[in-house]
Amino acid sequence: MLADRILAVQRSPFYSIMELAATREDCIYLQLGEPDFVTPKHIAEAAKKALDEGHTHYGPDRGHPELRQAIAEKIQKEYGATYHADEEILVTAGGQAALHIAVMALANPGDEIIILLPHYPPYLGNAQLAGAKAVFVKLKSEEGFIPDPAEIAKVITPKSKILIVLTPNNPTGSVYPKETLNAILELAIEHNITLISDEVYEHLVFDGVRHESLLSLPDAKDHVVQVNSFSKTYAMTGLRVGYLAASSDKLIHFLKYHHTVNISANVPSQMACITALKGPQDCVEEMRLAYLKRRDLLVEGLNDIPGIHCESPKGTFFAFADIRELGVPSLEFAQYLVKEAGVVLTNGSGFDYEGFIRLSYAVETETILEAMDRMKKAVAEMPASLKA
Ligand SMILES: Cc1ncc(COP(=O)(O)O)c(C=O)c1O
Repeated sequence: MLADRILAVQRSPFYSIMELAATREDCIYLQLGEPDFVTPKHIAEAAKKALDEGHTHYGPDRGHPELRQAIAEKIQKEYGATYHADEEILVTAGGQAALHIAVMALANPGDEIIILLPHYPPYLGNAQLAGAKAVFVKLKSEEGFIPDPAEIAKVITPKSKILIVLTPNNPTGSVYPKETLNAILELAIEHNITLISDEVYEHLVFDGVRHESLLSLPDAKDHVVQVNSFSKTYAMTGLRVGYLAASSDKLIHFLKYHHTVNISANVPSQMACITALKGPQDCVEEMRLAYLKRRDLLVEGLNDIPGIHCESPKGTFFAFADIRELGVPSLEFAQYLVKEAGVVLTNGSGFDYEGFIRLSYAVETETILEAMDRMKKAVAEMPASLKA
């Protein structure tokens, strides 16, 4: 009765943990993939004003012209790259839709999409929906989860069509250096592969590390499609606005897909995005500094638990902690923590990467401290029978 393409997509394994969490009332949620901050007031006000002023109709399918212009200016300012607001920017219903549009418009059934592990699970879902084959390259924790272009080169075949690059990275929190991006772009040019560059966490970087964008590299435009979003930078996940930046010959086809599915992105939300880009940016820095403080507390707390090791992530609001020494599969460990400690986090196996857990530090500092106390106690009391 149902289409093969949807049957191929697995329901996220995180649901089993969430269902378990629903059986307890005192859970601490560290699995969230979104800022806990309220959307900055001036941004939310712009959406309200748009509603009050009657901007409640379809917008231009490519996106509000003023927003596209502001995005093009941002790209020029931040990456020194020129993208034409009318032809090379498409405003979408979040970064998630941008990603889906790009994959569906670029991959034929049977094409290969290279996905680096651990991965953001919708990358696999999109490959499955496109009928493409996901080809995995496992990143090494001892290399800080930074891809080795030579390892990527090994899996390239004539069928390789797309490589998805995500920096700053979810779930690892790693931030790729420019040399790595340069080498990846060289591979893409040599093998005629399109790079989907997911940069939704671009403003969440720490310790003086810079976010490097593929868009800033020479000759990138023909080979790179950028997926971006307002969700994380401006704490506005619910307003659902993202965008694609790509050469006009690709974007015109992305537009057909977008129009077929969405007609246009949410109009009042787009007005909020104009204010987000053009207004003061202090809110972004304030949130970043708060994440930094929380990151340090979380990493310290994790490293204080015998058997758990965690490097300090350079970006995002996720920590990816090594639990291999505990000898427990990550899903069992995550389930145990919910049952015994009421701490909800994400098993590494959900990102196709065993031996690790992902914790979000987009929560209050007291919540982190309480979670670490509970986890430490639960790990100390963990029954040997849990071990694989
Ligand atoms: C890596 C990555 N890309 C894209 C998205 C999509 O975000 P949104 O659709 O809210 O822009 C997310 C959300 O968690 C993400 O983590």
